[in-house]
Amino acid sequence: MDKKISRAHQNELTRYAARFWAGEAEIAQTFFAARRTPEEHLVWLRVQAYKELQPRNDGIILRNIQQLANNYPSLEKGVTRSDFLYNIQFLEEEFRHYVVFADIIDYITGGNLTTEELATYDTEGEQKLRQVRRECYETHGELGRFASSFCEGGGASIFYEGMQISGDPLSDKIAAACKNVYDDEVDHAAHGASDLNTVAQTETDWALAKEMVTAISMQRLYMRNEEFSFPITSERIEEIAQGDIELPDRLASLLV
Ligand SMILES: [Fe+2]
Ligand SMILES: [Fe+2]
Repeated sequence: MDKKISRAHQNELTRYAARFWAGEAEIAQTFFAARRTPEEHLVWLRVQAYKELQPRNDGIILRNIQQLANNYPSLEKGVTRSDFLYNIQFLEEEFRHYVVFADIIDYITGGNLTTEELATYDTEGEQKLRQVRRECYETHGELGRFASSFCEGGGASIFYEGMQISGDPLSDKIAAACKNVYDDEVDHAAHGASDLNTVAQTETDWALAKEMVTAISMQRLYMRNEEFSFPITSERIEEIAQGDIELPDRLASLLV
């Protein structure tokens, strides 16, 4: 497919997906707009720490460790040093995201979070999201995998909103943690978008990618709403999906 045309498709999909990213921002913004107790913050912090580490056999951290070990013998023979480095950096970033949220949890509870405890914070919305993603890979292979990584981080919206809070020591810690994660997640989404561009070869592929992005992004909105103890209604989620939401300027920078 002509480079110009595929770039136009990538931009069109980004512009379309931006409503869902703005939706994730609205959920977080609605939550953070009210003064929250440490216990109220604990709910989303635990869910987020779970999402970063994913303490289960097919979790992202463990999968990346295994992938590095598997790829090592092929380094410079099929696996490029820059791909290998990207993998290491990705692993460092996701593990660091876990660390920054787990540290705040320990600050609030005064305890030491264990991976066994963390494993109990896997939500229904998150499990359903994994299932939607799995269906994408199983049905559409690489295209499904890249459509899924295109949606990763949801435009980093919740971290962007979390970065804005302040006024007490806990809010300052949350803002610092969110800022730490924000830049990495914007990059992960950009990487996902350019990967998608390399596998989507036809108009049909792009149409299929849009369908998968819709299914994944909808489930992400439900997952986020549950994570933040349901600050918005399901009717509002439907409106967002129809595009009835203002797009923040920062999302325009994702266009290529
Ligand atoms: Fe992350
Ligand atoms: Fe990420």
